[in-house]
Amino acid sequence: NNAVVWKASVLHFLEDPDSAPASDAYEYFEDGALLVVDGHVLLCGAAQDIMKDLPPGCEVRELPGRLIVPGFIDTHVHYPQLEVLAGCGVQLLDWLNQYTFPAERRFSDREYADEIAGFFLDQSLSHGTTTSLVFGTVDPTSVDAFFAAAQQRNLRMIAGKVLMDRHAPDYLLDTAEGSYEDCKALIQRWHGKDRLAYAVTPRFAPTSTPEQLQVAGRLLEEHEGLYLHTHLSENPKEIEWVQELFPSSKNYLDVYDQHGLLGPRSIFAHSIHLCDQSWERMGASGSSIAFCPGSNLFLGSGLFNLGKAKSCGIPTGLGSDVGGGTDLCLLHSMKSAYQVSQLREETISPLQAFYLATLGGARALHLSDRIGSFRPGNEADFVVLNPEATPMLRFRSGKTKTLEELLGVLMVMGDDRVIESTVIMGQEAFRRD
Ligand code: GUN
Ligand code: FE
Repeated sequence: NNAVVWKASVLHFLEDPDSAPASDAYEYFEDGALLVVDGHVLLCGAAQDIMKDLPPGCEVRELPGRLIVPGFIDTHVHYPQLEVLAGCGVQLLDWLNQYTFPAERRFSDREYADEIAGFFLDQSLSHGTTTSLVFGTVDPTSVDAFFAAAQQRNLRMIAGKVLMDRHAPDYLLDTAEGSYEDCKALIQRWHGKDRLAYAVTPRFAPTSTPEQLQVAGRLLEEHEGLYLHTHLSENPKEIEWVQELFPSSKNYLDVYDQHGLLGPRSIFAHSIHLCDQSWERMGASGSSIAFCPGSNLFLGSGLFNLGKAKSCGIPTGLGSDVGGGTDLCLLHSMKSAYQVSQLREETISPLQAFYLATLGGARALHLSDRIGSFRPGNEADFVVLNPEATPMLRFRSGKTKTLEELLGVLMVMGDDRVIESTVIMGQEAFRRD
C-alpha cells in the first residue's frame, strides 16, 4: 500500500464547461489535495477534508503555489516527424514529399527507432503529455520500438503502423496483403499489453488502394478494442485529389465509411473542410476528431469548426500533429485553438481549452474511465504546473484574481517551462531542475 497525498491547487473536469453549468463541469480546490494510492486516484478535494483522514503511513508532498491538472492528452501526433519540425515554405502535399517521406525512411532501423521513440516519450513527458495517439511509419519496426519504449515507461499509449501502398516513394510502400500480416503480428505483440493499445493507421485516403482500406476494415472486425486513426479533409488540394481517386464516393469521409472505418474509437485528424452531410455522418457514427490547431495554422490548412463538432456531438480532443505542428506543447495547442476560435469569431474560454487537452481528449479516445480527470479509481497520470516558472509569468500570474484568468495566462504565456513535474501512475516520471 503506497499512499501519497499531493497538496497544491487542483483542477479537473467532469463535463464539458461549454455544455454544463460550472458547478457540474469542473472541480477547483485552491487549497486542494490529491490522494493517490497504488498508482490510482483515491480522492481529490479540499486539503482540509482530505488531510483529516489519510491512510496510515501516507506520504505528504507540499507544493505551495503549484497547480495540479490531469496529464495532457495528445490525440494526434507522429513520433517519426520530430526531425522535420519547422519545415517552412510549403503546404500539406508538398510538405509530405519534401520533408516528411524522406524522414520516415530511417525508421526501419531498429536502433534509430529506439533512440527517437525514447526521446519522443521523454520530451512528451517534459511537456506534460501523458497519453498520445501516435503514428509510426510504414515499417513495423517503428511501432515495435515505440511500444517497447512506452512499456518501459509505464505509459498509456496508442499507436500503429502506417498503411500506405501507393502515391509515396517506393521505399515507404507496403502492400494490402503484407500490411494485413504486419498489423496482425503487431496487434498480437502489443494490443492490450500493459497500458498499450493498437490503432489501425491508414495514412490518408490518397495513399491507400481500396484493397488496403478493406484490409483496415477487416482488421477492425477481427479484433476487439482496436482504434482507427487517420487524416481527413485537411487541405483543399488533398480533398480535390481524393475526389479524383475515389469518384464513386460522395465525399472524403464517405471513402472511409464505405470501407467500414467509422465508429467509436475511430479518430479523424483535422476534419477541417466538411460538408453538412459529413458532419452529420461523423456524429451519427460515434467517431472522434483530433483538432490540430498548431498544425492547421503552420501548414495553412484552415480553421477548424469546433462549434459544429460540438453541435453534432462529436468527441473532440487536441492534437499537436508534430511535425505538421510546431512543437509537442499542448499549452501551445490550447493557445492556437484559442486563436483559431478568435479568427472564427467563436471565442473559446481558457477553461474550454484545458478541458480539450484533458477530459476532452480522454473522451475522444474513449478512455475517460481511466484518465483525463481525477475521478476516484482513475490512473494517477498528472502534471504539476508552476505559474511562476519565468519572471514574466511570475509577474503576470501574480496579478490574476480568478481561476479563469490564471488558466488564460498559462495557456497564452506558458510553455514547457511551466511543467514542473509529470507523474505517471503515481510515480514522478519527469522533474524540471
Ligand atoms: N496527411 C497525410 N499524411 C500526413 C502527415 O504526416 N501529416 C499531416 N499533417 N497530414 C497528413
Ligand atoms: Fe498528422
